[in-house]
Amino acid sequence: MTDYELLLRQAEGLLGEETDPIANAANLSALVYETVPDLNWAGFYFRRGEELVLGPFQGRPACVRIALGRGVCGRAAASGEVLRVDDVHAFDDHIVCDAASASELVVPLTGADGNLGVFDLDSPKTARFSEQDAAGLAAIARLWVSRSAPL
Ligand code: SME
Repeated sequence: MTDYELLLRQAEGLLGEETDPIANAANLSALVYETVPDLNWAGFYFRRGEELVLGPFQGRPACVRIALGRGVCGRAAASGEVLRVDDVHAFDDHIVCDAASASELVVPLTGADGNLGVFDLDSPKTARFSEQDAAGLAAIARLWVSRSAPL
């Protein structure tokens, strides 16, 4: 089980005084991918108008553009709610990027003026993500928002 208090402290130290949004997203993706077990993808999509566009990530190459409201990512971005999907094959509008993915956690990036994108995690294990994972990774997403200059 991941110690999310420790992970958050490590993430804060890793970002330091850096405010570049791309650099911070890149390092947070790498830290989470290395630290949280059973992931096959961890990364960012950034909001560009009515679309999400792929940002820094770890894992296999992924789809570049997702319309707002589409897929797990687009739905989380549109609603502003964390989405935890135990079985992506049972999610009617799931967008397949890596056929190995079985479960998914999407945390919206919420700034002062609304949605800025999402932090997306995929696992090859069904029902990989607990409420505790969702809370811990939401804290990492908030750290990115609070430490990063506007995109
Ligand atoms: N599965 C996501 C697409 C992004 S990839 O998993 C990296 C979705 O349905 O929105």
